[in-house]
Amino acid sequence: MPTKIVVIGMGYVGIPMATLLADVDDFYVTGIQRRSQRSSWKIDWLNKGKNPFEGDEPGLDELIERVVKNGKFKVTDNYNDVDDADYILIDVQTPVDENRIPRYESLIEVSQKISKHLKKGTTIILESTVAPGTTDNVVQSILEEGSGLKRSLDFYLVFSFERVMPGKLIEYITDFPRVIGGGCKIANENASFLYGKVVKKELQITDTLTAELTKCIENAYRDVNIAFANEMALLCEDFNRNIYEIIELINQRHDRMMHYPGSGVGGHCLTKDPWLLLHGFNKYTEKKNESKIKIIPNSRNLNDYMPYHMVELMEDVFREKHKLVDNIKIVLLGVSYKANTDDVRNTPTENIVKVLQNRYHSHNIIFISHDPYVNERDYRLTELTSDFNEAVKGADVLIFATNHKEYYNLDLDDLKKKVRTPIIIDGRNIFDKNLVEEKGFIYRKVGEGSKRFKNL
Ligand SMILES: NC(=O)c1ccc[n+]([C@@H]2O[C@H](COP(=O)([O-])OP(=O)(O)OC[C@H]3O[C@@H](n4cnc5c(N)ncnc54)[C@H](O)[C@@H]3O)[C@@H](O)[C@H]2O)c1
Repeated sequence: MPTKIVVIGMGYVGIPMATLLADVDDFYVTGIQRRSQRSSWKIDWLNKGKNPFEGDEPGLDELIERVVKNGKFKVTDNYNDVDDADYILIDVQTPVDENRIPRYESLIEVSQKISKHLKKGTTIILESTVAPGTTDNVVQSILEEGSGLKRSLDFYLVFSFERVMPGKLIEYITDFPRVIGGGCKIANENASFLYGKVVKKELQITDTLTAELTKCIENAYRDVNIAFANEMALLCEDFNRNIYEIIELINQRHDRMMHYPGSGVGGHCLTKDPWLLLHGFNKYTEKKNESKIKIIPNSRNLNDYMPYHMVELMEDVFREKHKLVDNIKIVLLGVSYKANTDDVRNTPTENIVKVLQNRYHSHNIIFISHDPYVNERDYRLTELTSDFNEAVKGADVLIFATNHKEYYNLDLDDLKKKVRTPIIIDGRNIFDKNLVEEKGFIYRKVGEGSKRFKNL
């Protein structure tokens, strides 16, 4: 018997999951993607068997091509296929607003649409990250109200989160254990059957709320660890030492895994999952005792501060050299938030540009951004080029915000000839300070003091 699967939301999560499932014998997958100015092209692109992502995604090109060619995967904008689906996976975005409250418009719209088509026996799996309590209190309520059916009696609802990351979309689905939080035994068995076909690691069964908490806490843990690294980076700058050298020394202990600092934390997940956790806590627990929750908001705020610090490092150079931040060309190197990917969501680069544009709005500054992976369609804040030489020509400041592989092993002599003023601000530990200074650049790095010091 063929298994019919619908995956709603053709993004970083939905595409790899849908196509991995479509590669399983007897699984037929329909991807549902709404049409909008920014996303309509994805439907045609996927139906031609083409990968819409620009970054390095091992295995994804061939997988999409194969499942489309084999007639196992198609994408549409209508919900008709939901009618006879055995499984419906929800993979839409779940951002937060400026007050750090979840914006569930997409999740609510999708749940309402599913409810109108829902038939008995269907298993719905929410893969989007949500505030703890959302599956039971938001999605279940909408599905039951709209369909007149009951969870765990007529249909099954599961929360099973994604762990993918741009650059590792396939590997992180197949090679990580999968947490399954269904509302009853049958829901868990159904989800286990599905994921068991693509996940090579253990399937870990728990309740819905525990699964939701696991996802939010897992990402808050990473955000807090990066914030700690960022704080230590700021501290080491003032000690006039190098945090990267210190992290290497610490991590010699096999039971220590200190994270690395940088120009900021970006992406769709780490920037909002800690806020989702706090929202769930405030909304669905009785205590609502915010005062004991300190580390998470402080960490978020520190990570959000790092793009400002990049600007401070630049201003430090101008102050020291008695130069004005005027009549200059600033080049942002790396627009995506993560190396070798095209994902620009909440990228620190955008905040660096916004801070500069705000502070120096009446000054004469040319901004140009360079990125080998990002499409102009996704980034409109400054002019964008993939031509490195064009970007750096006549530059006065080079701000390296993302550590794309193209930025390592640059010919510094050649680079120095191309720029007008040799200033490098390094947010990702791309360069060796002594080396770039020997080549005649003025250099500032997140996490390393700017003064020379004598080693013992
Ligand atoms: N990106 C990641 O690395 C990652 C990792 C783990 C978990 N997640 C979580 O997974 C979820 C999805 O993230 P993503 O990165 O894939 O987002 P995304 O923005 O790349 O994809 C979401 C897609 O859903 C589509 N969509 C929105 N509303 C729709 C509707 N009503 N009908 C049909 N399509 C609709 C959007 O147009 C978009 O293409 C989020 O909750 C996110 O937090 C993401």
